[in-house]
Amino acid sequence: MRICVTGARGMLGQQVVETALSLGHTVLSWVRPEVDITQMESLFERCKLDAPEAIVNCAAWTDVDGAETNVSAAYLSNHIGAANVATVAASQGIKLVHISTDFVYPGDIHRPLIESDTTGPKSVYGQSKLDGETAVLQNCPNAVVIRTGYIFGHHGPNLIDKISAGIKSGYNMPFVTDQWITPTGTPLLADASIRFCQANASGIYHVTQAGGCSTYEMARYIAQLTSGTGSITSTTLDAWEPIQSARCEAVGRQLAKRPVYSVLNTDKYSNFANIEPISWEAAIRSHLLG
Ligand SMILES: NC(=O)c1ccc[n+]([C@@H]2O[C@H](COP(=O)([O-])OP(=O)(O)OC[C@H]3O[C@@H](n4cnc5c(N)ncnc54)[C@H](OP(=O)(O)O)[C@@H]3O)[C@@H](O)[C@H]2O)c1
Repeated sequence: MRICVTGARGMLGQQVVETALSLGHTVLSWVRPEVDITQMESLFERCKLDAPEAIVNCAAWTDVDGAETNVSAAYLSNHIGAANVATVAASQGIKLVHISTDFVYPGDIHRPLIESDTTGPKSVYGQSKLDGETAVLQNCPNAVVIRTGYIFGHHGPNLIDKISAGIKSGYNMPFVTDQWITPTGTPLLADASIRFCQANASGIYHVTQAGGCSTYEMARYIAQLTSGTGSITSTTLDAWEPIQSARCEAVGRQLAKRPVYSVLNTDKYSNFANIEPISWEAAIRSHLLG
C-alpha cells in the first residue's frame, strides 16, 4: 500500500514508518512544517500530490501537562488537526487510522474498559483528544480510532526509559499503588495501525499490551530488569504530590489529572486481528533487554 504517516518524527510515527517499510509498503513521512495538520488547504494539496491509499495520523499535541496551560494549541492539533485529516481522507477516499488515548475516560470504573464505556476526560489533553475522535468519526465514518495508553518505544522519550535511567543513576523514586494502566509498546501499535490500513474495519478499537498494573508495579518490574543502585518505593495518589516534588526528579510534575483506572479491554482488537497482544511485562522486557 501507499501509506502516509503524519507526525512521522514522533515516537509512534517513526515506528509506524519503520514497520510499514519492513512489511513492504511505500511510506511517505509527513512532518512539520511541510505537513501541518492544522493547515487544511496545504494538507488537501499534499494529499492529492502524494495520493496515499491510507493515512496513519500520529500527529498530536502530546504534552499532557502542558495542555493545561496551552489549551488552544492542544485543541488546534488534537481537535481541529484531526478533523482536517479526516475531512481530507474522506474527500479523497483514503483509509484513515487515527491514534487516540485512554485519557478520554474518567477512570472511575475498576475493571478493564470496553470501547462503549462512558467517556469523561479529566484533563484538557483528554478532552481535546476526545473532541478529535468525535470529529474524525463524523467527518470520515470509515476511519479507525485506536485508543491506547502509556506508550513506550525506541524512538522517543518515555517513562520506561526514564525509570530505568533513574535506577541506573541511583534515584529513589516513589510510584503510586492506586493508579492502574497498561504500558504499551510502539511495535504493537504500529503493527495494529498497518493492519487497520488494509482492513475493512471502522470505529473505535482499544489496542494495548495484555494485562494491567499499578504504576508502582510497572516501576518495580523495570527496576528488576535494570542494574543500578536506585530504588522504587510505594506511595498513594493522596501522598504523591509532596513526595513527588521533593524526591521524584526522574518523573517530573503532573499538572493534569490522569484517569485513576485506565486498563483497556482489547477483546475487540484481538477478534479483529486474530492475535493476543503480548503482556505489558514481555513488551517492557523486550524494549529494555532486546
Ligand atoms: N505517548 C503516550 O504515552 C501516548 C499515550 C496514549 C496515546 N498517545 C497518542 O499517540 C499518538 C502519538 O504519540 P507520540 O507519543 O508518538 O507523540 P510524540 O512523540 O510527541 O509525536 C507527536 C508528533 O506529532 C507532531 N505534531 C504535533 N502537532 C502537529 C501538527 N499540527 N501537524 C503536524 N504534526 C504535528 C509532532 O511534531 P514536531 O516533531 O514538529 O513537534 C510530533 O512529531 C498521539 O496521538 C498521542 O495522543 C500517546
